[in-house]
Amino acid sequence: MSVKSCCIYSTGVISILTLIAGIVMVLLQVFQNVLYAKIKEEIVLRNGTSAFDVWENPPAPVFMQFYFFNVTNPSEILKGERPAVIEVGPYTYREFRPMERVHFLENGTKVSAVNTKTYLFQPHMSIGSQDDLIRTVNIPAMTVMEKFKDSSVIANVISAYMKSVNENLFTTRSVRNLLWGYEDGLLKALKVFNPTLDDVFGLFYKQNASDDGEYVFLTGQLDYHNYALIDQWKGRSSLDWWTTDECNMINGTNGASFHPIITKNETLYMFNSDLCRLV
Ligand SMILES: *[C@@H]1O[C@H](CO)[C@@H](O)[C@H](O)[C@H]1NC(C)=O
Ligand SMILES: *[C@@H]1O[C@H](CO)[C@@H](O)[C@H](O)[C@H]1NC(C)=O
Ligand SMILES: *[C@@H]1O[C@H](CO)[C@@H](O)[C@H](O)[C@H]1NC(C)=O
Ligand SMILES: *[C@@H]1O[C@H](CO)[C@@H](O)[C@H](O)[C@H]1NC(C)=O
Ligand SMILES: *[C@@H]1O[C@H](CO)[C@@H](O)[C@H](O)[C@H]1NC(C)=O
Ligand SMILES: *[C@@H]1O[C@H](CO)[C@@H](O)[C@H](O)[C@H]1NC(C)=O
Repeated sequence: MSVKSCCIYSTGVISILTLIAGIVMVLLQVFQNVLYAKIKEEIVLRNGTSAFDVWENPPAPVFMQFYFFNVTNPSEILKGERPAVIEVGPYTYREFRPMERVHFLENGTKVSAVNTKTYLFQPHMSIGSQDDLIRTVNIPAMTVMEKFKDSSVIANVISAYMKSVNENLFTTRSVRNLLWGYEDGLLKALKVFNPTLDDVFGLFYKQNASDDGEYVFLTGQLDYHNYALIDQWKGRSSLDWWTTDECNMINGTNGASFHPIITKNETLYMFNSDLCRLV
């Protein structure tokens, strides 16, 4: 074999390899474009797409677990001794938060909905029942006392009232009442003077089967990067939230409530403060 034919031979091999590589690259490009178009078509909130189904009814289960500290020495604490507590729980609830009252707006580029939260007790994931009694700090009484601590007259009236109904700074209530609400005697008595006062107290009072106002989301129809981004909440543009007091409102006051942030890959549930940071 001469040097020349060897060169021709290897040039031939290289050309064929280049040709194959070229074809593969074209195919990959085509395949990628097809895939891309398919993804763009699927990642949009439109009635019928799987993305819409997941968005409307998030399948990933979300659980909330509560632990309580049961006070065992209330009278000693009132005399100034250290509190002795026993931790009880968890009391587990599953949270359902489907999108409801769904309406498509502006030719399908936006969609409005409310996010209704419902909590269902999960006995098999709990230790104890919702009827378990917990002796704990009497939060309404403490709050009222704190509010009137500078007015000794009112404070005395309140403390006399509490003695008369055999209440003190501790109260024994069921888990159900502590979380979802109970009518508080002291608040009820004060309501006579201030009719706008709500006499029901509970850590998650009014949270079950309720929503936090109407959201408007971008559907991703114009740009799939904007899929399920929050555009407005209660008629206000999302751009306003994090620069104004509204963010403090959704950030601070109610650290117990969650807001969903729906990303491209999954549904994430985060605390309000995270929402503020991420929006
Ligand atoms: C989606 O389509 C179904 C079946 O056609 C219909 O019942 C439903 O109301 C539609 N939902 C919305 C939000 O338009
Ligand atoms: C919806 O589409 C129609 C027809 O393309 C157009 O005339 C109309 O202005 C659009 N409406 C909105 C709110 O974008
Ligand atoms: C929340 O509301 C739903 C529907 O009204 C009810 O079935 C459920 O028992 C409630 N959950 C709690 C914890 O009260
Ligand atoms: C908490 O303490 C109270 C008062 O001693 C008691 O009646 C109750 O059973 C305790 N709760 C639990 C869950 O152990
Ligand atoms: C989903 O996306 C979020 C943010 O875009 C990212 O932080 C997270 O790691 C992703 N999760 C998975 C399972 O890919
Ligand atoms: C939101 O809360 C977090 C944690 O409490 C705090 O660090 C952050 O500064 C708050 N953001 C705003 C905008 O208030």
